[in-house]
Amino acid sequence: MMGLRQLTSKFCQQSIRLSSAMPRVVTEVVPGPKSQEMKQTLGNIQNSTAVNFFADYEKSQGNYIVDVDGNQILDVFAQISSMPLGYNHPALIAAMQSKSAITTTVNRPALGIFPPADFIQSVDDALLSIAPKGFTRVQQMACGTCSVENALKCAFFKYRDIERGDEQPREIDLSSCMMNQAPGSPSLSVLSFKSGFHGRTLGSLSLTRTKALHKVDVPAFDWPCADFPILKYPLEENVAENDRIEEEALANVAETFQLWKQTKPIAALIVEPIQAEGGDNHASPKFFHGLQKICKEHKCAFVVDEVQTGGGPTGQFWAHEAWNLPSPPDFVTFSKKLHIAGFYFQKQFEPLQSYRVFNTWVGDPLRLALLKTTLDVIRKDSLLEVVQKSGKTLMDGLNTLQTSKPESISRLRGKGTFIAFDLPSEEIRAKLISAMLQKGVLMGGCGVTAIRMRPALIFGQKECEIFLDTLESCL
Ligand SMILES: Cc1ncc(COP(=O)(O)O)c(C=O)c1O
Repeated sequence: MMGLRQLTSKFCQQSIRLSSAMPRVVTEVVPGPKSQEMKQTLGNIQNSTAVNFFADYEKSQGNYIVDVDGNQILDVFAQISSMPLGYNHPALIAAMQSKSAITTTVNRPALGIFPPADFIQSVDDALLSIAPKGFTRVQQMACGTCSVENALKCAFFKYRDIERGDEQPREIDLSSCMMNQAPGSPSLSVLSFKSGFHGRTLGSLSLTRTKALHKVDVPAFDWPCADFPILKYPLEENVAENDRIEEEALANVAETFQLWKQTKPIAALIVEPIQAEGGDNHASPKFFHGLQKICKEHKCAFVVDEVQTGGGPTGQFWAHEAWNLPSPPDFVTFSKKLHIAGFYFQKQFEPLQSYRVFNTWVGDPLRLALLKTTLDVIRKDSLLEVVQKSGKTLMDGLNTLQTSKPESISRLRGKGTFIAFDLPSEEIRAKLISAMLQKGVLMGGCGVTAIRMRPALIFGQKECEIFLDTLESCL
């Protein structure tokens, strides 16, 4: 089997070949006829209205996704921000051909009760090797939303232990919870933010505050919502105003804690380092310091949701590490670019009893193996530096565009390649996304009128140039 060095050099050659290939659109419109027909057929089986196009994943390579009609499209969205190394990275393909990968694929373990012999080493090599500062414990899960929900369960367990003064639930707790009644099912809450997104399952949906259509008709927890600062751009011209906006948002959080204290105390506060689905809303480290301080005052768990920001797109492995908090958060949730989902947590939040955080698979050794190989490539190819460099090129180029076309682009913001800008309306955004796709560049939207960039970590200078040129011509 080839070593990582040989594989990476093979990949570089392929990337060079592909980057000189450029986007290539061969159909009159994208999505092309095959994609359109398949979408209709899929519509006979399930709701297919969100499908953009059908992809040919065998032919896709590096930063380029190839669709079933043969269009080769520069992917600046990367499967909703979840592809760290782009398509068909040879190191990942080789990792999946190993004997142990085959063994775990055909014998998928229920990790909570029958972990494989090499499990501890795999967790060590993958998840613990990148643990955010101050964390030594991690729990795997299947996806972002269930990571959020299980981290919150741990926060509730701890909150009740402290209230009860005992880590063992009492008889009254055990009997009342079976009827969904207090004290076993306690009247506690979680604070989330306007425009925050934390998933779409029954619990996390109550924390999500992006689109009404995601929430409507579903019973929700009556939980509090606070203001997230919506900053003015450019930042350097709005320092005092943004300070005021953040102070007001913090005051709103503190007030919300007081308001809910008597009826439904807040056991956990959950926040994204950059509100992603909600429109790429950033805040300063000072704001997050303020949040942590309020949480400590109220003995409330501070949960940082890094499902979208984690894994390097901001130019740091964990976005929250840029805040330099005086002490680590209580939980950090992750998924997407890490292949595997889960949450890091502080030891005091670990439930004592078994099966309280549990499901059939609680993770996937195969995804851990992919993460380990991905980390090897990130380190060897200095991909965080690639992200920083490409981020700068993109920000410089977009800044120039914003200056020359202020009527089209506004509120340019970003860290690393985690970049967004606003367009004048939702309709214009839809037109721009479609126009870019016709020229072979795939972008995503977020919030009401924003375009978000979420390329793979291998998005290089050549790809930046193509993106900027195409955007300029479409604007
Ligand atoms: C910040 C954040 N949290 C949670 C989720 C939910 O993750 P998943 O879609 O894997 O359930 C997402 C998904 O986009 C997210 O961006």
